[in-house]
Amino acid sequence: MYFHTSTSACYNLYMSTDERSINWYNEHANDYTAHVRNPDDSIYHSLYEKPAMYSLLPDLEGKTVISLGCGSGEDSNYLRTHGAIKSVGIDISERLIDIARTSYPDCEFQIGDMENLDLPDNSFDFTYSSLAIHYIEDWRQVFKEVYRVLRPNSYFLFSCNHPIYSAMEVVSDDKTTKKAELSRSRDKNTNSVTIVSDYMTHKSIEAVNSELAVTTWHKPIGEIATEASEAGFLIADIKEPVPLPKMQDLSPRDYDTLVKIPNFVIFKLFKP
Ligand SMILES: C[S@@+](CC[C@H](N)C(=O)[O-])C[C@H]1O[C@@H](n2cnc3c(N)ncnc32)[C@H](O)[C@@H]1O
Repeated sequence: MYFHTSTSACYNLYMSTDERSINWYNEHANDYTAHVRNPDDSIYHSLYEKPAMYSLLPDLEGKTVISLGCGSGEDSNYLRTHGAIKSVGIDISERLIDIARTSYPDCEFQIGDMENLDLPDNSFDFTYSSLAIHYIEDWRQVFKEVYRVLRPNSYFLFSCNHPIYSAMEVVSDDKTTKKAELSRSRDKNTNSVTIVSDYMTHKSIEAVNSELAVTTWHKPIGEIATEASEAGFLIADIKEPVPLPKMQDLSPRDYDTLVKIPNFVIFKLFKP
C-alpha cells in the first residue's frame, strides 16, 4: 500500500499494485510482449486462458469496450477486430502502453490505474480484464470503478489466479523436487490435525523467481463473489477453464496438472 509518485507516471491517488510489479513489467516489457505474441511459448494464454475468455465474450458488434491491465494490447486489438467500434486499453506500465500504441493504432491506450479510471460514468458497453486484477490488494475499488463506467445491461469479464492454486504453499524445494500443498492430515493416535496452507485468508504472494518478480493477491472465491455483488453486479458465470487438447502434445506435464488443478478462474459479471 502506498501513494505512487514514480517518475514514470505521476499518480497521487491511492493505488495498491506493488511498485515492484510495475517495475517488473516496465523492465521486461519487450520480453513480456514477445512471450505473449508467441502462442507456442505462452501456452497458458493461447491454449488455456484466452480460448476460455473469448468463448465468454458478449456480442461486440458496434460496442465500446475497455481492457484493464491490457499489457501490450493484444486483447484490445482482438476486441477491436471482433466487432468493437472503440477499444480502449489501460495499463499501469508505461513501457507496455508504448508498445501497445505503436502496435495497434486502431485502438486507444492510456497509462492508468484500474482502481481510478479516468473515464466518464456510464460510458462503455463492455469491460474485459485478463490476469490483471490479482495485482490489486482491494478489488472492491476496481468493481466500483468498472460499475461506474459501464452502461446498464453490460458485462465485466475478468480472469485471475484461481485461489485453489494461489493457496498452495511450497513445502519442499530441492534439486530434484518442488512440492506445493493445500492439505489436512490427522494423526489417528493423538487426534492432532496438521493443516498446510490457508485458503480462506486474503493475503499477498510475492513471486521471488527471476522469471516473474511480482506481488499478487490471493482471494477466496466467496470473497470475490461477495465484493462483486456488493458493487451491484450480478454473477452471470464462473468458469474454471480446461486447456485445449493441443497442450497435451506441447506440454503434457502442464496439461495433466491443469485438467486436475485450475490455475485461473474467470468471472462474468452483469451490470443490470
Ligand atoms: C499478467 S499481465 C496481463 C497483460 C494482458 N492482459 C495479457 O493478457 O497479456 C498483468 C498486467 O496488469 C497490469 N497491471 C497491474 N496492476 C495494474 C493496475 N493497478 N492498473 C492497470 N494495470 C495494472 C500490469 O502492468 C500487466 O501489464
